[in-house]
Amino acid sequence: MSRGRRISRVKFIPPSKAVAAKYLQEWDNKNLYHDPHQYPDLTRQALFNKPGLVSLDIGCGTGEFTNALAKQNPENDYIGIEISRRAIYHAVNQAARLRLENILYIRADYKLLNPLLSPSSLLNVYLIFPDPNYGGQKRRKHRIFNQEFLDEMFLSLGSTGYIQVVTDQKPFLISMLETAEADSRFTLDHPERYLETFKPPEKTRFQIAWEKFDRPVFQFRLIKQTKSNS
Ligand SMILES: C[S@@+](CC[C@H](N)C(=O)[O-])C[C@H]1O[C@@H](n2cnc3c(N)ncnc32)[C@H](O)[C@@H]1O
Repeated sequence: MSRGRRISRVKFIPPSKAVAAKYLQEWDNKNLYHDPHQYPDLTRQALFNKPGLVSLDIGCGTGEFTNALAKQNPENDYIGIEISRRAIYHAVNQAARLRLENILYIRADYKLLNPLLSPSSLLNVYLIFPDPNYGGQKRRKHRIFNQEFLDEMFLSLGSTGYIQVVTDQKPFLISMLETAEADSRFTLDHPERYLETFKPPEKTRFQIAWEKFDRPVFQFRLIKQTKSNS
């Protein structure tokens, strides 16, 4: 059975106008490509009108993880980025049901958002079950975690946060780790090369599905290398 068929599709339920106005921004990929600065920067100041750092969940899917984090940490603000309209609508409707005040969802291709990142503006960055994009160079270029991503994160991550990567795909995990390990600007924030456990505040549909099939889930967390942790 293919990976996709193990996960049931969520219903396509557009949010009400009021819910969309509060929780959702839909950014057009063509506009992002040609004139990204017509959109706000991905900063807490620009999107929440508050100083400080903001956390990003890239490829947040249906938002169970992002919404649970936001509920658990009302002092922080969260941005969920997702390309699929169906999935992000689900996330937005759930945020409204939970009456969250510290989350915003952006429907966009993360790969086009690079010009909107700002130096030292991000707290934590989450990549939870990113698509492995197996099957040749053409598909691999859609992977989010690569050298360009680390360059962006080196610029935009603050000094206290981390990048958390979770996957059920061991070869994919190793390939991402090798990219990270070759970059001396980052270090792991755990002594093990990777961890074989991931206990989120709420499991996503993907984690629930993989655990049903007894697939282990792996994670690693990266922090910026500083003089004090080198
Ligand atoms: C395997 S799913 C995991 C979703 C969620 N993190 C979870 O654990 O349920 C990967 C998600 O990444 C999204 N995605 C893939 N490439 C993306 C991109 N370039 N920009 C934004 N979202 C992307 C897909 O649409 C999909 O919802």
